[in-house]
Amino acid sequence: MKDFKNRDILSGKDFERDEIDYILEIGKKMGNNEYPKILDGKILATLFFEPSTRTRLSFESAMLRLGGKVVGFQSRDVSSIKKGETIADTIRTVQNYSDIIVMRHSLEGVDRMAAKFSTVPVINAGSGPSEHPTQGLLDLLTIKEECGTIDGLNIGLCGDLKYGRTVHSLSYLLCNYEVNLYFISPDSLKMRARVVDWLRKKQLKFKETEKFRDILPLLDVLYMTRIQAERFVDKEEYEKVKGVYIFRKKDLTETRDNFRLMHPLPRIDEISTSVDDSKKAIYFKQAKYGMYLRMALLGLVLKGNDFMRNL
Ligand code: CP
Repeated sequence: MKDFKNRDILSGKDFERDEIDYILEIGKKMGNNEYPKILDGKILATLFFEPSTRTRLSFESAMLRLGGKVVGFQSRDVSSIKKGETIADTIRTVQNYSDIIVMRHSLEGVDRMAAKFSTVPVINAGSGPSEHPTQGLLDLLTIKEECGTIDGLNIGLCGDLKYGRTVHSLSYLLCNYEVNLYFISPDSLKMRARVVDWLRKKQLKFKETEKFRDILPLLDVLYMTRIQAERFVDKEEYEKVKGVYIFRKKDLTETRDNFRLMHPLPRIDEISTSVDDSKKAIYFKQAKYGMYLRMALLGLVLKGNDFMRNL
């Protein structure tokens, strides 16, 4: 396994199975509160050019829990990008103030460009409609811990599979496991061709359908997603698919005993709040696993693969 030290984390395609399993193992240990202040003296820069609650705050909390410090901004409007500075110059500047950069941007590819200009590692915290690899990794940690396994599961990804970046990264990562995937979306929001092509190349089994209720009894995991209103150029197109899938309490009766319902959040109306109390609803636990997973990543990238062993 390659060392994670100083590695950029940009895409779900960049991981081998043993690397993912190792990240999940460390993430689990973080969840057991087995962490020391190993990042004392290190500084994380969070550059968020798009809104975020979970990703930014869980990265910041992860860094603080490991003894590090955080600088950053949460909107392009409070950075000098607003005055016309380029991303390249921003990165060349911020790398002097930090040991690692976590960045979210509305444009696809800006994460790779930032990594090219940066002398410190860059973590992609969401690149437009393209990818969100740390979300995909935390989704896997959640599945592993809550279902006991990833291999052998029937997993449905439902909603906006075109613009939803989390489902792209999760699909790439799942290519390392023996799973059956079900892509559930309206025709206009089908899984992107580039993702489907990658899955075919990796021989991952998947089916596409428009109806989640037909396959609900088959599923071990259903991963609901928000229709990404902010990505639609034509608002009339958004109105046509808004609210297309809503998981309601009565739908639970159609599910297996071991069924688990996930969502990267934020939720708008895809899951009725009456489902929240069910033990099958694990989306808030998922957000907590995100912090542990990001602690694992920060430790691995800043300290290297043996950082837990050498304590
Ligand atoms: N899941 C996720 O990326 O949430 P935020 O947009 O709140 O960071």
